[in-house]
Amino acid sequence: MRKAVLVVTLFVGAVALAAPPASSPALLEKGKASFTLNCVPCHGVAGAGDGVAAAALNPKPRNFKVDAFKNGEKPENVFKTVSEGIPTTVMVSFAHLTEEERWSLAYYVLELRGPGVGKPVAAAPAADAKKKKK
Ligand code: HEC
Repeated sequence: MRKAVLVVTLFVGAVALAAPPASSPALLEKGKASFTLNCVPCHGVAGAGDGVAAAALNPKPRNFKVDAFKNGEKPENVFKTVSEGIPTTVMVSFAHLTEEERWSLAYYVLELRGPGVGKPVAAAPAADAKKKKK
């Protein structure tokens, strides 16, 4: 009986660990480093979809600043995109990266998207006021 309780506790603990980590300057730094390594060739340094490989691609890499995100714009949505990729495109899965690294990428992509995270920059003149809103 004790053993069963212990197993359940460990299981719940493991699930809790899988919850999104909060964003932090350190995590964003990590995201930036990983983005530079893994994503810049297509998405460009500032995420404008203008990396060196972009010209040859169809569909084009997403421009994080202005394009809509078809999988959604919450950190968990971008995490899913990075983890699973987008089928039939060159946007492949990055599931080989650690979960923490994928979260850091999700937050960094949204940082590149702009201060009004989740909203296209052009449509968010009051972005600063909304910065802390979830
Ligand atoms: C080989 C080129 C390539 C690389 C490398 C690449 N992407 Fe992409 N990415 C694309 C393309 C192309 C699309 C658009 C696919 C489509 O139109 O459905 C895309 C789309 C996306 C989207 C938009 C998802 C949505 O909901 O619309 C996100 C977010 C994204 N990529 C993040 C990343 C991150 C983070 C990395 C690095 C870990 C990365 N990509 C690496 C080509 C690339």
